Amino acid sequence: MARIPAYLDAFLAAVAEGAAIDHVHLGHWDEPEAIGPVRARAGFAGAQERLSAALVAWLDLAPEHRVLDVGCGFGGTLRAIRRSDPKVAVIGLNLDPRQLAVGLRYDDRPRNAAWVAGDACRLPFAGAAFDRLLCVEAAFHFASRRAFFGEAQRVLTRKGVLVMSDIVLTRPPLPPERVALFADGLEDAFGPWPAKWAGIDAIRRDAEAVGFSLRVTDATANTEPSFYTIGLDRGGRPTGGALLRELHRLGCLHYLHLRLDKR
Ligand SMILES: C[S@@+](CC[C@H](N)C(=O)[O-])C[C@H]1O[C@@H](n2cnc3c(N)ncnc32)[C@H](O)[C@@H]1O
Repeated sequence: MARIPAYLDAFLAAVAEGAAIDHVHLGHWDEPEAIGPVRARAGFAGAQERLSAALVAWLDLAPEHRVLDVGCGFGGTLRAIRRSDPKVAVIGLNLDPRQLAVGLRYDDRPRNAAWVAGDACRLPFAGAAFDRLLCVEAAFHFASRRAFFGEAQRVLTRKGVLVMSDIVLTRPPLPPERVALFADGLEDAFGPWPAKWAGIDAIRRDAEAVGFSLRVTDATANTEPSFYTIGLDRGGRPTGGALLRELHRLGCLHYLHLRLDKR
């Protein structure tokens, strides 16, 4: 049974207190080397919009396209698509009905049916229902990337495309007991995270096994300033984000943009 990652409770609590949260992802910085902590914090929301825009641009959308955003969070990317092309039909799918309810609240069309509850590995849609699939920073949570790719293959039309960003880790070069501590901490802070040290080769095998060709852009450097914004809570205490920050410092966190085309 798929499980909703517990860290989203904190985002939902912030929304309940009046915060407007569009995105839950690491964002994208065009000149990361020029950004220090102060500008990173001030510009984080803009960086998040940039990531959405970059991934949406890679979808090569046409007005008649039907798009599914898998693991849509609060719907920020879905709204970015609507802004860039109001004619495109977009549906957001999320395991968490509470996030969907927030997305619906932000929606300018009351009772919009574009918010669907479901699991990425068992998509509740007929075959060939979509021309494009998007999945922003969510697949590392899924029970199996291969199962998700299989479902993506099924619900996409013949020339369909899946564009995604994903956090891909490689095993830290540390003694096994330290690696186990990282794994334990990651599961506690961000679980479910089933295949922690999968690496890009495993993802390529999964994509090709179900009939996709895969293109990868390594955008790790473009996320760097975002690591100034995570890691400590408001009281300065370390959070789960500190683990990601440390894996990033060790060169073991890779932020990838992926495009999968049906072969
Ligand atoms: C890091 S957030 C990214 C949210 C959104 N894509 C964004 O960029 O703002 C991960 C999202 O994946 C969703 N999720 C996790 N496991 C899922 C699953 N098995 N099926 C569908 N959604 C899932 C979570 O509820 C959460 O909304």
